Amino acid sequence: MKFSDTLFELPSAAAPAPTPRFINLRGRESPGQPPRSTVQELTEGLMAEAASVSPKFFYNALGSRLFEAITALDEYYPSRTEAGIFQAASAQMAGALAENGLSHPCLIDLGAGNCAKAMALIPPLQPRQYVPVDISVDFLKDAAAQVQNSFPALDIVGVGMDFSAGLALPDEVQGRDRVFFYPGSSLGNFQPAQALAFLRHMADPAQGKARGLLLGIDLVKDAATLEAAYDDALGVTAAFNKNLLRNVNELLAADFDVRQWRHVALFNAAQSRIEMHLQALCDVTVQWPGHSRRFLAGERIHTESSCKYTVESMTAQLKLAGFRHIRHWSDPQDWFAVFWAAL
Ligand code: AVJ
Repeated sequence: MKFSDTLFELPSAAAPAPTPRFINLRGRESPGQPPRSTVQELTEGLMAEAASVSPKFFYNALGSRLFEAITALDEYYPSRTEAGIFQAASAQMAGALAENGLSHPCLIDLGAGNCAKAMALIPPLQPRQYVPVDISVDFLKDAAAQVQNSFPALDIVGVGMDFSAGLALPDEVQGRDRVFFYPGSSLGNFQPAQALAFLRHMADPAQGKARGLLLGIDLVKDAATLEAAYDDALGVTAAFNKNLLRNVNELLAADFDVRQWRHVALFNAAQSRIEMHLQALCDVTVQWPGHSRRFLAGERIHTESSCKYTVESMTAQLKLAGFRHIRHWSDPQDWFAVFWAAL
């Protein structure tokens, strides 16, 4: 049987798809008992004079669903624009990978979420193994099972981990022909210097053993379009932002009152990034074991930066990180770009 036939066997009622393998590297995470490093990281950010919380803390189970809702909003152009690029160019992308000897890669999906983007790429890219990775463990487990349902013969290894701390993948992940798939402009959550460090980490043969990277990046555009994408009329992004406080309450046993905060999104042109903040509507004191923090009315917690690149600035980053054979595809408006960068 040809490889392609085994991949696209139709699921039959008699033989339900197997549950994909899943490796949870996040450890036990009962409410109020997260890893010490998480408590430390959150406490440091909240106690800093200019308070901040990493955007990775958006993604508890509800946060992952709210993000899914964001991707369906008219204002949030990145998801549909990127999907359009994949639809138009996935055959060319598969060709580019094949030229680099990657006809059946091990596709490592960083921040896979609901795995919808990868699902569209599995037929054209024909991965030998699919490795969705996400910090939102339970959400990912369900999503990986759905991928398995659609592709019963595909080898899937789900990994629950916080890859911002490093890309050490479990032994179940095939060592050969690894291709990182990092779509959705998630790299934009890093500041450019950190993004470069993360790309270098990916390119380092001692780390991820990667042969290449398929990267989706949002491009600089007018401020009004950008700001609408992060402050939609229905308030879904506001809910997504405020839900971070619920997640922090759960993780730290803190007592944030979500009603005392408002969502702020602005384009910082000097730094080429959208910023999201939560702004206190009144004087607020927040407490959690061993700590308390007072916020004055108007004070903000910085919750996300979403850096916007140009094709030139991202190409330069990829070159600096050590990638070669860099190609890109974009939409007719040049709002978003997908890069293939080989090592
Ligand atoms: C998942 C980080 C790519 O920055 O656009 C969407 C997250 N934040 N709306 C982005 C997000 C607010 C998103 N990324």
